[in-house]
Amino acid sequence: MRKKLVAGNWKMNTDSKSGVELAKAVATAAGTGHDKVDVLICPPFVYLTTIAQAISGSAVKLGAQNCYFEKPGAFTGETAVSMIKDVGAGYVILGHSERRHVLHESDELINRKMIAVLEGGLVPVFCVGELLSEREGNKTEAVLNTQMEKGLAGISESQLGQVVIAYEPVWAIGTGKTASPEQAEEAHAYIRSWLAKHYSQAAADKMQILYGGSVKPDNAKELMAKPNVDGALVGGASLKAADFVGIIDAAKSL
Ligand code: PGA
Repeated sequence: MRKKLVAGNWKMNTDSKSGVELAKAVATAAGTGHDKVDVLICPPFVYLTTIAQAISGSAVKLGAQNCYFEKPGAFTGETAVSMIKDVGAGYVILGHSERRHVLHESDELINRKMIAVLEGGLVPVFCVGELLSEREGNKTEAVLNTQMEKGLAGISESQLGQVVIAYEPVWAIGTGKTASPEQAEEAHAYIRSWLAKHYSQAAADKMQILYGGSVKPDNAKELMAKPNVDGALVGGASLKAADFVGIIDAAKSL
């Protein structure tokens, strides 16, 4: 039985005060943990240290939203994996659609970051997903195929065991348009079959595949009830404690 993961991607939101308040509310709800649900929050870099303190003693896990693949050195404005680890974060979101489409990150760059995160002993939350035009052109599987093949290039089966995948259809992110549970399940099943084909069925069966895209307390349960949906990567609703806790509770109720 795969454990569910409810992850909050705060994106470029909060400040030190509101971030700490939000983190503390999540920490209270998560308590010392749950046997079927893990909780992760990914605040902006500058708040990681403060948020690490705010959630200390709780089961809430901490992640960054990005990293650079190089070791510390002359890379102005970038953040190394070792630094993220140093402040107590264990996860790094990679390949998010905003980084792919707004910051123009290529599959090759995402792959270099993936290798750096895995070599650093952290868990990449590797996001994949198609644009609306790609879905309408029946290219969803082809897009997922390319993103998975290039993003996971050179990743061994044992390293894959450290990866979390997030299926985030771009047309559902921040738009209020959630994929239906059936659409999510179909894409998740495709991703799992891809993993079985390129690695092994055993490896594929162990992978956590999260759904992301307008997850809210009122749609979270039916999405996460699908057999291949192992949790949620939540943007907007992770910024409101009551909503995010509602999604955590939905996962616990399954
Ligand atoms: P959303 O964002 O929940 O606001 O749609 C999800 C994400 O981008 O990870």
